[in-house]
Amino acid sequence: MTAFTDGLMTDRSVFVAGGTSGINLGIAKRFAQLGAKVAVAGRNPEKAKAAAEAIGEGALGLSTDVRDYDATRAAMEQAADAFGPLDVVVSGAAGNFLAPALGMSANAFKTVVDIDLIGTFNVFRGCYDLLRRPGASLIAITAGQAVNATPMQAHACAAKAGINQLIRVLAMEWGPDVRVNGISPGPISGTEGMARLAPDDSTREAHYARIPLKRWGEIAEVAEAAVFLSSDSAAYISGTILDVDGGSQLGDATRNSPAKGLA
Ligand code: NAP
Ligand code: COA
Repeated sequence: MTAFTDGLMTDRSVFVAGGTSGINLGIAKRFAQLGAKVAVAGRNPEKAKAAAEAIGEGALGLSTDVRDYDATRAAMEQAADAFGPLDVVVSGAAGNFLAPALGMSANAFKTVVDIDLIGTFNVFRGCYDLLRRPGASLIAITAGQAVNATPMQAHACAAKAGINQLIRVLAMEWGPDVRVNGISPGPISGTEGMARLAPDDSTREAHYARIPLKRWGEIAEVAEAAVFLSSDSAAYISGTILDVDGGSQLGDATRNSPAKGLA
């Protein structure tokens, strides 16, 4: 299923914030398979260590909370010291839970905005002078909530919408030297995110029906998009948000059935 050949990322150094599980760990593993030197970071040091072992020899598992600018900067410095200037930085740390706005304290709302949006600013602002310039690729992991208002997701909608604009502004400000893009995954199988957002069979089945491709995505499919955006094939792509979502952004595919009947 891949168009990429072994060695495509040889000698590139990659830092994945929130890369210790799920989609982001899948991205980190894929870069390592293609020859990159990879560091992942999350809050839990044991989880980070296990992730590095799963990625393979030479990978670094670092501990930071992306809400803490200095600690996050220190983790990225550690990666750059070990591997050289950073070619790829992925900002994917996130927190989420289902709750109506009236069921969220101010701190609950702020917590998700702090991790997702402020965390992405901290990662990107903190890495700038550690990047290989020109040539570096920054990727923020956003979500459909950025553009689709979603009940029970006020915090994530606000945070991811902010990330989408941050991507665009940084792509403009840093354009000559650095490309800045986003990936917006749809529902991805086997992830913590979907365990939280679609916890039961009936919610999952309703999700499948609404997606034009009628299935959830795979972690590997998101990882391929991250490799593409960081490859020389994407050298003229900046400020874009690539939906890897089976067409979910187009709307509810169950509403297409009358039109399909006319075909
Ligand atoms: P996940 O497995 O829970 O991954 C989250 C990662 O972020 C973990 O490595 C976690 O490690 C780390 N993290 C959380 N809070 C952090 C903090 N404050 N500082 C540093 N690291 C932190 O989640 P996932 O479901 O794979 O989602 C990954 C990304 O994809 C997120 O940005 C999410 O919004 C996005 N996304 C997911 C889906 C989906 O279907 N799952 C769909 C659309 C978008 P620690 O807990 O050790 O910190
Ligand atoms: N409903 C309403 N409020 C909730 C909640 C829920 N399900 N879960 C947490 N909160 C509130 C807490 O009560 C707290 O508010 P308070 O201080 O007013 O009581 C606030 O959110 C922060 O919770 P806390 O547990 O202290 O935050 P944390 O920084 O330790 O953890 C979370 C952050 C809450 C986002 C946690 O779920 C997490 O670590 N998630 C990472 C993994 C993840 O979400 N993966 C999916 C990515 S899409």
